[in-house]
Amino acid sequence: MYTQKTNLDNISELLAPISQQLISIENRLRETFNDQHDVLTAATEHLLDSGGKRVRPIVALLSAGIFEADQQHAISLASAVEMLHTATLVHDDLIDGSLLRRGIKTLNADLSSEVTILTGDYLFARAASFAAQTQSVQVMNLFAETLMTIVNGEIKQSFVDENTASRKNYFQRIKAKTASMFALAAEAGAILGTKDEKAIDAMRHYGIQTGIAFQIIDDILDFVGKSEDIGKPVGNDLQQGLLTLPALYYIEDNPEDSDVASLRNGHNNDQAVYERIIQSISSSTAIDSSLAEARQYVESAKSALQKLPDCKYLDAMYTIADYVVKRRF
Ligand code: IPE
Ligand code: IPE
Ligand code: MG
Ligand code: MG
Repeated sequence: MYTQKTNLDNISELLAPISQQLISIENRLRETFNDQHDVLTAATEHLLDSGGKRVRPIVALLSAGIFEADQQHAISLASAVEMLHTATLVHDDLIDGSLLRRGIKTLNADLSSEVTILTGDYLFARAASFAAQTQSVQVMNLFAETLMTIVNGEIKQSFVDENTASRKNYFQRIKAKTASMFALAAEAGAILGTKDEKAIDAMRHYGIQTGIAFQIIDDILDFVGKSEDIGKPVGNDLQQGLLTLPALYYIEDNPEDSDVASLRNGHNNDQAVYERIIQSISSSTAIDSSLAEARQYVESAKSALQKLPDCKYLDAMYTIADYVVKRRF
């Protein structure tokens, strides 16, 4: 079973070198644009005040710190990445019909689909304007390509069904929808401070591997987490027709399970079947197998850091990778 506890104290100590910058980012994210409609301001505040772990801007700031990038450019990058993440969540919750995020109501719970979509669009544009403030065309390109990758991945995901899902396909999907944004954070941080291609590639690798592990844990928590801890509904993925790593392992290991057969045959609109199979997956070795796989990705992420200059930012980078698999929310 998944029982590790997150040592958040340790993390806040390690984040001391970027604590001022993290405060600056909170202010930047709340800046309003000329004549911004009250609905957009209220929606943005609602989203930002509800919390969020800010993992991606932390990765961006640490990476920029390792390579001694300009601080203002680093803050712009980190703001761009968090705003991009926020925008994708607005659209993701609308698409999934989720009513709860970070322990409070989603935008789509209160607003029409039209206004929710437009608010998401606005936040994407805001993210792009932050990316432009890094003054790096290379970073702006990477930002645009990442958004294209995410959307492409989400579209692909919507065409996967019980018969086409595979672990290979799962990893392609999560690389696109989640790991690409972690890669953006880590790689762009390096781009702002160095021209050393090997170092930039190492940071990209770190971002991808950490991001894959992060999404595997999110998918594990969807089975074994508590809604009050993770701030969003649990047991949702399967009911949305999404076969994530724990489900895929379970299906592989238990082909004789009649509930698996009914999932496969598309007889899957029976609530009792879902509840049983979610219970079966949660208490199976599929959770441990998934967790072991996430840990392997974290080890690979950390190995990418080995040749980088030793400094306080690098230490925190190692800790963030470990945190990703220890977290409970
Ligand atoms: C949620 O990301 C979306 C995924 C990629 C799993 P986070 O778990 O980082 O969400 P917040 O920002 O902390 O709420
Ligand atoms: C969301 O992944 C990834 C993007 C928004 C691109 P999930 O669908 O797993 O995120 P949650 O579980 O809703 O936070
Ligand atoms: Mg979702
Ligand atoms: Mg999820």
